[in-house]
Amino acid sequence: MPQRLEPDLVERRDFLGLAGIWAAAVAILGSVLGMLRLPKPSVLPETGSRIRIGRPDEFPSGTTRAYPEHQVLVLSNPNGVAAISMECTHLGCVVAKTETGFSCPCHGSAFNADGEVVTGPAPRTLRWLEVGQTVDGRLIVDAKREVSPGTYLKV
Ligand code: FES
Repeated sequence: MPQRLEPDLVERRDFLGLAGIWAAAVAILGSVLGMLRLPKPSVLPETGSRIRIGRPDEFPSGTTRAYPEHQVLVLSNPNGVAAISMECTHLGCVVAKTETGFSCPCHGSAFNADGEVVTGPAPRTLRWLEVGQTVDGRLIVDAKREVSPGTYLKV
C-alpha cells in the first residue's frame, strides 16, 4: 500500500519570514512601476483653445455659423465678426440657437441674440469670445479669452 506523502510543514517562523520577503518584493516592484510611469502624463493636455474659423470673406455680413465641437457660435454683421460661447452661464449646458437668440435645454434659460439673459436661472450673459486674425489673415476664436459683450472684430 503506497504511503501518502505528507507535505513538508513550513515552520511558522519560516512562513512569516517568507511572507515578509514577498510583501517587500511586491511593494518594491509596485514602487518601481509607479516611478516608471511618472514621465508619462496621466491626463492628456487640453487641446488648444484657438479655433481657426476661416478667411474673413467666408463671413459676409449676416452670417451665423455654429462650431458645435467647440460650443462656439460665430456671427457677422456690419460691426464685424464676433463669437459667442454656447455654454450656458447657469450650469454649463450647451444652449441651442433659436430664432430670437438661444435657449438652454437643461433648466429653461433663454438668451437674446446678443446672449443677454431673457429668462433665468442663468445669472449672466453668454460669454463673448475674442476673435483675432493670424498673420496670414485667417480668423481665429480664442475660446479661453472672454471679451466684453458686443465686441466685434472689424474685418
Ligand atoms: S444649465 Fe442652462 S439653465 Fe441651467
